[in-house]
Amino acid sequence: LHTVGIIGTGKYVPERILTNQELEQMVETSDEWIVTRTGIRERRIAAPEQATSDLAYEASLGALEKAGISAEELDLIIVATITPDTAFPSTACLLQNKLGASKAAAFDLSAACSGFIYGLATASGMIASGMYKHVLVVGAECLSRITDYTDRNTCILFGDGAGAVVLGRVPEGRGFRSFQLGADGSGGELLKVSGGGSRLSPESAEAVKGNFIQMAGSEVFKFAVRIMGGAAEEALEKAGLGKADIDLLIPHQANIRIIQSALNRLELPEEKCMINLDKYGNVSAGSIPIALAEAVEQGRVKEGDTLVLVGFGGGLTWGASTLIW
Ligand code: ACO
Repeated sequence: LHTVGIIGTGKYVPERILTNQELEQMVETSDEWIVTRTGIRERRIAAPEQATSDLAYEASLGALEKAGISAEELDLIIVATITPDTAFPSTACLLQNKLGASKAAAFDLSAACSGFIYGLATASGMIASGMYKHVLVVGAECLSRITDYTDRNTCILFGDGAGAVVLGRVPEGRGFRSFQLGADGSGGELLKVSGGGSRLSPESAEAVKGNFIQMAGSEVFKFAVRIMGGAAEEALEKAGLGKADIDLLIPHQANIRIIQSALNRLELPEEKCMINLDKYGNVSAGSIPIALAEAVEQGRVKEGDTLVLVGFGGGLTWGASTLIW
């Protein structure tokens, strides 16, 4: 088996900033409530002409440049998203065309906010087996397109953006050490977009409402608190590592209180955690790769560091990974 690691990272967020103060004008809420309950201060919103593949494209250019490879050298593109440009063609195919990655296979992956970790696990297995050499894994979302801006329970949380990584072979001693993926379909009702699929007739009133994210916030919160620390611990154990080995935790950026509970359980100080939800909110599959790319940009990741990536989301799903940078 080949050792597999991340050889390039990139991110892109749209220019338009939606602040808590603006949301105060849209729904019955306050900056103070949003900051204390979630930690979010602002989020980015895609321009009307931008869709998920456009954000994914910008992030991918950065990742390819850092990796020092051209788009033609990609064997596969995986886009994790719950906001594809269209039901089909897949956003990965649209991205393949924009990049000119003519030799790459391409598919989308649906695991909500855990999608990026699921994508890393999939790509890493394919490279380890010798099937592929370079895989582009992208987490990209235009959540503003499925957010109901009259629902204060959800509209304060979400933002748009994309993060991308190139996976390839790395020297022995570096790269991915473990993956811990999980799902609990019995919790599917807690977090969903029910329209746009084959369950509802497109003419039904429910389908129109169903185009937006519906969420049982406090139930999801309890699940997240339980699973974030748990999945990270299991991934560490699989890798033969312990909590004290973590140099940097890169958690899904849903809510500062969920992140803090994970830090408590992992006995980690906040300095060992990447937090940028104050600027971007929850970008679903985009959150972890954006946070990773930003940590790299800020020089917070050094060769030999032990990183733990961990996320949870609709499905319900969760995923964690340990890697040596
Ligand atoms: N402004 C002011 N008040 C609000 C707002 C708001 N924006 N939103 C809700 N409230 C009110 C509620 O109506 C409720 O009032 P009530 O008691 O009179 O009914 C009160 O605040 C408390 O509501 P709770 O739901 O108990 O608040 P909580 O502390 O749980 O925070 C939150 C809500 C932030 C949504 C939290 O539950 C959370 O973060 N949940 C997890 C969400 C999450 O991570 N989702 C992942 C989605 S990822 C994906 O797959 C797309």
